[in-house]
Amino acid sequence: MLVRVATAADTQFAAQLCEWYVESAKTRGTGIAKREPHYVAQKMAGGDAVIAFVEHELAGFCYIETFDDKTFVVNSGLVVNAALRQHGVGRAIKQAAFNLSRVKYPQAKIFGITTSLAVMKINSELGYKPVTFSELTTSEDFWKGCRSCKNYQILQDNDRRMCLCTGMLFDAPEPAPAAADPALKSAYEPIREPARQPAKEAVFALTGP
Ligand SMILES: CC(C)(COP(=O)(O)OP(=O)(O)OC[C@H]1O[C@@H](n2cnc3c(N)ncnc32)[C@H](O)[C@@H]1OP(=O)(O)O)[C@@H](O)C(=O)NCCC(=O)NCCS
Repeated sequence: MLVRVATAADTQFAAQLCEWYVESAKTRGTGIAKREPHYVAQKMAGGDAVIAFVEHELAGFCYIETFDDKTFVVNSGLVVNAALRQHGVGRAIKQAAFNLSRVKYPQAKIFGITTSLAVMKINSELGYKPVTFSELTTSEDFWKGCRSCKNYQILQDNDRRMCLCTGMLFDAPEPAPAAADPALKSAYEPIREPARQPAKEAVFALTGP
């Protein structure tokens, strides 16, 4: 398994990833937070995304968005190839996206909203805490992403204070500049870790933006 920061060369995978988003939303019975290939491609080209491969095949993806003048960061659009789920790919991508977020936006709070148990588990391991929506961004740009969710009316009825998703927030006690934190510095260095099957070996090669 190779997990690395995406680049402009990966934009060839943008359309495929958007198909996965549609398929997984249908399977989960949720609404689709609509993402267009050009937006995904823009994230890749801007160094704000993490992409994974298993045996040279596209395995998964996640991208970073910033809100409120970069005081809030969201790791969004996490998706893993349906044939490769439950093998640690999602966790590896999320870890890499988290590291990239901390390096690129060290002052920011990192948050997400999710109904996914897998994502709740991974976020908790990374140090996120469950919070009410009052602790999250108030940016319209973020919340308009919920408009295509089938539960949007519930969010509206509750004045955006709560919904079926759980809000999760990583609020570091202090900013962590890359130079001062060996763990974060290593986000830009290749790391080898054992992975569960089917990946025999994990290589986290996070190249610089
Ligand atoms: C959510 C998703 C990214 C998880 O990816 P993955 O590669 O299967 O996750 P991992 O194998 O790294 O699993 C991480 C943890 O979550 C658990 N997990 C994975 N899928 C799960 C599921 N469907 N239900 C409950 N727990 C699950 C794993 O068991 C693991 O925990 P453990 O180590 O304690 O056993 C993947 O299922 C997916 O692409 N789903 C569709 C898109 C989606 O829902 N995205 C999230 C939107 S918020």
